[in-house]
Amino acid sequence: MNNTMLPLIFETPKGDVFFEVMTMADWVAVQELEAKTFKSPASLNLFKKLIENPDTINLVTKKGTELVAYLTAQRVLDEVHIFNMTVVPAYRRLGIAEKLLDILFRTSQDKGGKEVYLEVRVSNAPAISLYQKVGFTRLGIRKGYYHDNNEDAMVMVKYL
Ligand SMILES: CC(C)(COP(=O)(O)OP(=O)(O)OC[C@H]1O[C@@H](n2cnc3c(N)ncnc32)[C@H](O)[C@@H]1OP(=O)(O)O)[C@@H](O)C(=O)NCCC(=O)NCCS
Repeated sequence: MNNTMLPLIFETPKGDVFFEVMTMADWVAVQELEAKTFKSPASLNLFKKLIENPDTINLVTKKGTELVAYLTAQRVLDEVHIFNMTVVPAYRRLGIAEKLLDILFRTSQDKGGKEVYLEVRVSNAPAISLYQKVGFTRLGIRKGYYHDNNEDAMVMVKYL
């Protein structure tokens, strides 16, 4: 993925962080953060495939060399699907997720994306608040979408 906006420096109360495109140098750290955060994490192999796929938009945020956040998404024609995003607990509520989404929206628009979709657990109030804040609206519910606990997913869309 080419992105002329990146790398981009962002000031936070905990110091500057920077945003850049995810590469194979990041995949192990990204999968470790995924595994720490989610009950059913994506495998290393999946991250490798995402990084190699030219239709994906994968971003990382770092403080120095330390990974503090990532976002993965894929474009199919004019639709973009967010797979996942995580910010490490010590760097939450600093606007990092909002900035990652802003970069995703601009990059998607540059590539002809018109709609961004995602699924989120109905119990994930912080993520739902974040998505609403940046303009996503609820499209519907997928019953029992998450196999680990049979939880429903809220499908959300943002029109770019
Ligand atoms: C959801 C998550 C990515 C948010 O990351 P973040 O960097 O802390 O979010 P931001 O600082 O950019 O927050 C932007 C807005 O989102 C909303 N928000 C974020 N965290 C929130 C929380 N814990 N409670 C309520 N609203 C929250 C707020 O509206 C916030 O704006 P504000 O700080 O001005 O009130 C982070 O909590 C996380 O990694 N959670 C675990 C993984 C996860 O659930 N990922 C999403 C899977 S679909």
